[in-house]
Amino acid sequence: MLKELVEKSRSKRTFVSGEAIPEELLLDWIDTARKCPAARNLQPLKYKIISTPKECAQLQPLTFWAGSLTIKLPPEDKEPTAFIVICHDRSVAAEAPIFMVDVGIVAQTIMLRAAEDGFGGCIIGSAKAEKVSEALGLDDQLVPKLILALGRPDETVILTDAKDGDVNYYRDENNVHYAPKRKLEDIIIK
Ligand SMILES: Cc1cc2nc3c(=O)[nH]c(=O)nc-3n(C[C@H](O)[C@H](O)[C@H](O)COP(=O)(O)O)c2cc1C
Repeated sequence: MLKELVEKSRSKRTFVSGEAIPEELLLDWIDTARKCPAARNLQPLKYKIISTPKECAQLQPLTFWAGSLTIKLPPEDKEPTAFIVICHDRSVAAEAPIFMVDVGIVAQTIMLRAAEDGFGGCIIGSAKAEKVSEALGLDDQLVPKLILALGRPDETVILTDAKDGDVNYYRDENNVHYAPKRKLEDIIIK
């Protein structure tokens, strides 16, 4: 059920070391994303798959994780084993804010497909975009917009109701991560 899949698909920031994601799965997730709605149906998004240990080691330091926590995530020996870098291709359409909606739609679609297949990860918006382009050797028409860090998750994340509007995520002494969400009654406009 989609409801359960969305609940299961939490941001994961610790992964089983060295467990690669088969290339055909990554391609299959992107194949689902390409069928998503797209503003004016222009589809300017392109996808760079990073899946070798060498490429992952190059990209990982250019990403920033869980800024609100004081611990280092992912732990050094439990890093993502693949990344999908969602790029805007300027040769298809000029960049415009509306295309970031496309980016969000495809990002969540891929994360849900990953969760469905027993994988998972984290959407990463904080990254050194220019350095990412350089590290990946991207054509200058391709602008990285969002990075999906992926792997076999190796941590527990629990969805909770936000108390008194506090939406800060946190971890307990067992490193269990809690993701508070605003309650339904607090987001319905009356
Ligand atoms: C557009 C977007 C950008 C994000 N960027 C980052 C990021 O740079 N680093 C990070 O650790 N998490 C990032 N996240 C993950 C959020 O922190 C996470 O979704 C939030 O804490 C709620 O947890 P949940 O995904 O389990 O619901 C991002 C999420 C979204 C949707």
